[in-house]
Amino acid sequence: MTETPTAMPFAAWMGSVQAEVEDALSSFLPAAHQVPFKLHEAMRYTVLGGGKRVRPLLVYASGALFGADSAALSRAACALEMIHAYSLVHDDMPCMDDDALRRGKPTVHVAYDEATALLVGDALQAQAFQVLAESDTLPPARLAGMLRLLAQAAGSSGMCGGQAIDLDSVGIALNLEQLERMHQLKTGALLRASVLLGALCGKELTAEELESLAAYSKAMGLAFQVVDDILDATADSATLGKTAGKDAADNKPTYVSILGLEASQALAQQLRRAAHDALAPFGEQALRLRELADLIVQRKA
Ligand code: IPE
Ligand code: IPE
Ligand code: MG
Ligand code: MG
Ligand code: MG
Repeated sequence: MTETPTAMPFAAWMGSVQAEVEDALSSFLPAAHQVPFKLHEAMRYTVLGGGKRVRPLLVYASGALFGADSAALSRAACALEMIHAYSLVHDDMPCMDDDALRRGKPTVHVAYDEATALLVGDALQAQAFQVLAESDTLPPARLAGMLRLLAQAAGSSGMCGGQAIDLDSVGIALNLEQLERMHQLKTGALLRASVLLGALCGKELTAEELESLAAYSKAMGLAFQVVDDILDATADSATLGKTAGKDAADNKPTYVSILGLEASQALAQQLRRAAHDALAPFGEQALRLRELADLIVQRKA
């Protein structure tokens, strides 16, 4: 979906990217009738038919700004969604947040078993790198840089590192700086990578363009987890498709527990404005990225 930004309403654009990504994910995942059956079926159960697909949407929106190659865009979007889906499977396991509901369905360790959930995560992470590495439309050096960026965002200096801090922080009143750092790693890292990988599927970026995208994605990535914390405290499980009220029950430090609800809502709005401001140099061309920042802050699930 590399349409002109103004060609269709946001909801229609979002629906078409989500449908395209669903098909691509299905084609990049091993078939359920391929051995080992249970693992492949569970991988498909995890990834297909659910989720807002925010990371793929960011990949496509950012790619559209830079005239991205559509085959590369599809692979980058699917790689990010696979890493994200794996992170959710592990996040829900009894040794982490111990949740039984995800995307409106029983979590993988509940629907299958713990060992399968562990292996689904392992296999999806590997599959993600394979999907991106098999991209044959980008210059090899560019692709190598993208693989490195994805690895950094997923690993101990990115999402996994943030998850480790999250688990170590139960019952601890982090200060704002520590809280922001944890959120920027556990959630922000993959969202920032989505924006950058989408852009890297297109033309060479100038230093100024890179700086603007980095500022946008830093604000938007933090806003995403601030809103996740707000929704955990204010929405119900049926709406969220995952167990609500879990952060307080588990004594997790969140923006809501540390700043309070109102200040968290104000912060989310402030970050939305910062994300918009960062996009100013791109003008109208950045419409989809602006709309996605709005979606991230205004969403109800
Ligand atoms: C939930 O992510 C977990 C976090 C990183 C906060 P999403 O809210 O993007 O979950 P899905 O993909 O829509 O299920
Ligand atoms: C999880 O954060 C972030 C991940 C890396 C998966 P949360 O634990 O707050 O995510 P939810 O609320 O369970 O979706
Ligand atoms: Mg968690
Ligand atoms: Mg969780
Ligand atoms: Mg949460």
